[in-house]
Amino acid sequence: MTRAQVCFVVLSFLGLVSGSREFETLAHLRAKSSDETQTRAVLELMKRLLGETSREFVVSVNGSLSSDGLDVCELRSGRDHKVVVVVGSSGVAAAAGVYHYLKYYCSCHVSWSGDQLRVPRPLPRITGVLRISTQHRFRYYQNVCTQSYSTVWWDWPRWQREIDWMALNGINLPLAFTGQEALWQKLYTTLGLNQTELDEFFTGPAFLAWNRMGNLFKWGGPLPQSWHTKQLSLQVKILERMRSLGMIPVLPAFSGIVPHGIMRLFPKANVTKLKPWSHFNCTYSCAYVLEPRDPLFQRIGSLFLLQLVKEFGSDHIYNTDTFNEMNPPSSDPAYLTSVSRAVFNSMTSVDPQAVWLMQGWLFVNNPEFWKPPQIKALLNGVPQGRMIVLDLFAESMPVFNFTQSFYGQPFIWCMLHNFGGNSGLFGAVERVNSGPFEAQKFPGSTLVGLGIAPEGIEQNPAIYELMAELAWHEEAVNLTEWAALYAWRRYGNTNESLALAWRLLFGSVYNCTIPAYKNHNRSPMVHRPSLKMQTDIWYNPRDVYEAWKLLLEVAPSLRSVDTFRYDLVDVTRQAVQLLTTQFYIEIRDSFQ
Ligand SMILES: *[C@@H]1O[C@H](CO)[C@@H](O)[C@H](O)[C@H]1NC(C)=O
Ligand SMILES: *[C@@H]1O[C@H](CO)[C@@H](O)[C@H](O)[C@H]1NC(C)=O
Ligand SMILES: *[C@@H]1O[C@H](CO)[C@@H](O)[C@H](O)[C@H]1NC(C)=O
Ligand SMILES: *[C@@H]1O[C@H](CO)[C@@H](O)[C@H](O)[C@H]1NC(C)=O
Ligand SMILES: *[C@@H]1O[C@H](CO)[C@@H](O)[C@H](O)[C@H]1NC(C)=O
Ligand SMILES: *[C@@H]1O[C@H](CO)[C@@H](O)[C@H](O)[C@H]1NC(C)=O
Ligand SMILES: *[C@@H]1O[C@H](CO)[C@@H](O)[C@H](O)[C@H]1NC(C)=O
Ligand SMILES: *[C@@H]1O[C@H](CO)[C@@H](O)[C@H](O)[C@H]1NC(C)=O
Repeated sequence: MTRAQVCFVVLSFLGLVSGSREFETLAHLRAKSSDETQTRAVLELMKRLLGETSREFVVSVNGSLSSDGLDVCELRSGRDHKVVVVVGSSGVAAAAGVYHYLKYYCSCHVSWSGDQLRVPRPLPRITGVLRISTQHRFRYYQNVCTQSYSTVWWDWPRWQREIDWMALNGINLPLAFTGQEALWQKLYTTLGLNQTELDEFFTGPAFLAWNRMGNLFKWGGPLPQSWHTKQLSLQVKILERMRSLGMIPVLPAFSGIVPHGIMRLFPKANVTKLKPWSHFNCTYSCAYVLEPRDPLFQRIGSLFLLQLVKEFGSDHIYNTDTFNEMNPPSSDPAYLTSVSRAVFNSMTSVDPQAVWLMQGWLFVNNPEFWKPPQIKALLNGVPQGRMIVLDLFAESMPVFNFTQSFYGQPFIWCMLHNFGGNSGLFGAVERVNSGPFEAQKFPGSTLVGLGIAPEGIEQNPAIYELMAELAWHEEAVNLTEWAALYAWRRYGNTNESLALAWRLLFGSVYNCTIPAYKNHNRSPMVHRPSLKMQTDIWYNPRDVYEAWKLLLEVAPSLRSVDTFRYDLVDVTRQAVQLLTTQFYIEIRDSFQ
C-alpha cells in the first residue's frame, strides 16, 4: 500500500473523504421484484407512454449491472441503428435511462401539465454506450402533506400516471400512505372502540394528513366504509406497481396519536392532551398522544405494524413523525433518547430489519426547542444507520450542516419547494443546483440520497425535473443552458424566443436567493383585503413581463402544443398577479 492509499484509508475511516458513507445497515433496502418482473413493468410503462414506438426500445433489467448497489443504466443503438437497447440495474434505472434518452436525444418531455412526445424517426443514434448513473442509493419522493394538498381524490389511472412519472424521474423511495385508516379502523375496533368513537377521531378524506399528524380530528368526517374499502384496494395496486418497477415503498408506522376513546379502554394509559392547533379549538383539535415509553405504545405500535405487514407486505422502511409541529413534554436529552428508542423498538418488535424514516421537519419548524443536544439525543436513541432522516427543506434551511451530518445517522437531502399547494411560479434554482453537491462534500457526510418533498405538486414542473435529474449528475448543471434545453423539449420547438423566455424566468422568478425563504403566495389577488399585506417579491417583475411578451409573440405558431398553452396561461397568471400587486401598492399609498 502506498502512502497515499494509507492516507485515504485513514481518512475514509474517519469519514473525512468527500462522498457519502455506505451504510451496511441499509443494504437490505432494495428492489425485491425479479429482473423479469421489473423488465415487464418498464415495458408496460413505455407502452403507456409511447404506444407503438415503444417497440423500438429493447429494454431489460439486470440487477448485476450494478456492483455497488447504485443504480445505473446503459443505452446503445442496436440492429442497424433501428432500435435502442436499454439495460438498467433496476426498473427505475431503466426508466430513468429511457427518459434521459427521450429528453436529450429526442427533445421530449413528460410532466404533470402535459407531455411533448413527438419522437424523431428513425430514433436518434447513440454513438458507443450511453451510461447514466447515480451516486445516490435513494431518490425519495413526497411529503406527508402531499396526500391532502394533491392526491386525495386520485383514482388508479391518476396514480398509475404518477408512478410512471416517478420511475422516469428515477424515484426509488416513495411514500405509500394510502389506505392506512382502514387498518387503524380494524385495529381500534379490535381493541374495543365503537363506531361513535372512531367517527369522532378520523377527519374527512381531504384532511387526513393533519389527522395523521395529530393536528386535527373529526373535521369534515366521518369516513364512510366505502372510503376504507376503495382506499385499501387502491393501495394494493399502488404497492404492486411501485414494487414491480423496483421501488422501495415507505409505509406508515404508529406515531402515538390515539382516539379519545382509548382513555375509556385504558384509563391508566399515559396520554397527553395537546394544545389547539392552528385556528381550531378543542372541538376539532387538541389531539391525544400516547407517551412512547408507555407499554400501551408498544402494544398499539406493534399491532399496527403486524397488520400492515400482513396486508401490504414490507420493504422494511417505515415513516413516522412523533413530534411533528408539537413540543415533547421534556427537553431532557435522556428523555428524548428514550422516546426515539421506544418508537424504534415498536418497529423492530415486529420487523427486526426495520429502518425508521423520519421527516426532519421538527428541527426546522421549532429550532427553539430542537437545539443540537436535543437533536443529537433524539437521533442517538436509534442505532447508527437504522434510521434515515429527511433534511426536508435543505434548499433553504438545511439541518445537516449544524448537526455534524445528523450525528452520524444517514440522511436524504430534500428540496421542499412547495408550501400549501400554492400554484405561483417559484424556485430556488441556484440552491437546488449546488446544495446536493455541497452536502456530498460535507466533512463526514452521511448523505445517502436526494429527495423531493413538496407539500403540494402539479406546479412548476421545471423545478421538479431539474431536482430529479440532479441525482444523476456528478456536478451542478449550467442553469442557463438547462433552461434553454428545457424550453426546447417542453414545446418541441427550437425558437430562440422560447429559450430566452425560460432563461429570463430562471434568472428571476425561479432564482430566489433570499436565505431561509419560505414561499407562500403573498399576492393580494389571493388574500383577504387589508392595508397591511406583505407583498415583497424576490425578483424583478420586468423579467416576467418580458418572458410573457416573448411567449405571446410565439403563441400563434404553438397554439396546438398542450405544454405551451399551459405555460402561456401560467405565466399570464403570474404576470396578472404581479400587476395586482402593483395596483394594490398604488391604491394603498394613495389611501394613506
Ligand atoms: C447481467 O450483467 C452481468 C454483469 O454485467 C452479466 O455478466 C450477465 O451476463 C448479465 N445477464 C444477462 C441475463 O444479460
Ligand atoms: C360508544 O361508547 C361511548 C362511550 O361509552 C358511548 O357514549 C356511545 O354511545 C357508544 N356508541 C355506540 C354506537 O355504541
Ligand atoms: C407520563 O409521561 C410523562 C412524560 O411524557 C411523565 O413526565 C409522567 O411522569 C408520566 N406519567 C405517569 C403517570 O407515568
Ligand atoms: C369550536 O369551533 C366550532 C367551529 O369551528 C364552533 O362551532 C364551536 O362553538 C367552538 N367551540 C368552542 C368551545 O368554542
Ligand atoms: C447551513 O447552511 C445554510 C444555508 O446555506 C446557512 O444559512 C447556514 O448558516 C449554515 N449553517 C452553518 C452552521 O453553517
Ligand atoms: C453557462 O452557459 C452559458 C451559455 O452557454 C455561458 O455563457 C456561461 O458562461 C455558462 N456559465 C457557467 C457558470 O459556466
Ligand atoms: C441568480 O441570482 C444570483 C444573484 O443575483 C446570480 O448570481 C445568478 O447568476 C442567478 N442565477 C441565474 C440562473 O440566473
Ligand atoms: C420565433 O418566433 C417569432 C415569433 O413568432 C418569429 O418572429 C421568429 O421568426 C421565430 N424564429 C425562428 C427562428 O423561427
